[in-house]
Amino acid sequence: MKMRLALIPGDGIGPDIVAEAVKVMGAVGTKFGHKFDYSFYLAGGSALDSVGVPLPESTLLGCQDAEAVLLGAVGGPKWDHLAGEQRPEKALLGLRGGLGLFCNLRPALLYEQLSDACPLRKDLIAGGLDIMVVRELTGGIYFGERGRNEHGDTAFDTMAYSIPEIERIARMAFEIAMKRNKKLMSVDKANILETSRLWRSVVNSMASEYPEVEVDHMYVDNAAMQLVRNPRQFDVIVTENMFGDILSDEASMITGSIGMLPSASLRSDSFGMYEPIHGSAPDIAGKDLANPIATILSVAMMLRYTFTLSEEADAIEQAVGKVLDEGWRTGDIMSEGMKQVGTKEMGSLIARNI
Ligand code: IPM
Ligand code: MG
Repeated sequence: MKMRLALIPGDGIGPDIVAEAVKVMGAVGTKFGHKFDYSFYLAGGSALDSVGVPLPESTLLGCQDAEAVLLGAVGGPKWDHLAGEQRPEKALLGLRGGLGLFCNLRPALLYEQLSDACPLRKDLIAGGLDIMVVRELTGGIYFGERGRNEHGDTAFDTMAYSIPEIERIARMAFEIAMKRNKKLMSVDKANILETSRLWRSVVNSMASEYPEVEVDHMYVDNAAMQLVRNPRQFDVIVTENMFGDILSDEASMITGSIGMLPSASLRSDSFGMYEPIHGSAPDIAGKDLANPIATILSVAMMLRYTFTLSEEADAIEQAVGKVLDEGWRTGDIMSEGMKQVGTKEMGSLIARNI
């Protein structure tokens, strides 16, 4: 198979980790007889520096033309003083909105080999953790009207959701639940927000189409608490944009492996954008210190969701497992008795195990 990819290394450690993903794709190509065609694009701070905008038109067009996008990370303190429209983060929102990527999958998986890094008490995670956060990504308060009054002393952001917007994300979540353990937790704030009441009623009315799926609802504040109290009660969580932003950070932290977690941003066709969930870590950029595993696992998600190459995706995940089993660790996941390696060596080890 020939795959046409748009690569956006971005800022900070982005270029370091994307290079290792490319290395691993090379190994997948050789082993399974595939060809990856790469086009590189600018976004975020690096785009601001070289062309003056966080998301150049050419990047959006190039991504639209590709079958999938792989993104490293964007942002950093260098651009933190900039105003809203000029911030590197705007590139992410522009890509999500511009490409119509309404469904964000953020798996929070505890790696058995790294279970010591989990900050929760051992008995709370006995048996492992494997949660899939399904976050709505192109609606809600992130994309609603915002502004200031004429004096500039009052500001507002608005959260809006339509029935079709809720239906399409709920459908993705139900489908994922069907492929997993048929358990879905919809998270909202229906005791306060009208958008949440609509959300809840749409999810409930769709439940009859999926009689095998056990559907529950939880208020977001309670969900935040339950995630640290008893995380194993969750399987698939579906929620709106901002709640998903917050809960997915929490879910990833309780796995203790933030450098390990990939994500996928999807729409209803096979197109997707894939990226690690961690940030750009500018302090360690270019120093061969970053953990490339989340980006490499994002490639596995890309092969599975966009190209339906599950054998190839499994091969990457197994290679990562094997390298961890053998005791290789980057600095962020290092522990006593393990063998520390840099970004490049970690990428090579995984590539060699494909
Ligand atoms: C994320 C990030 C982004 C978000 C920021 C960088 C715009 O926190 O992907 O979770 O809030 O969605
Ligand atoms: Mg976030």
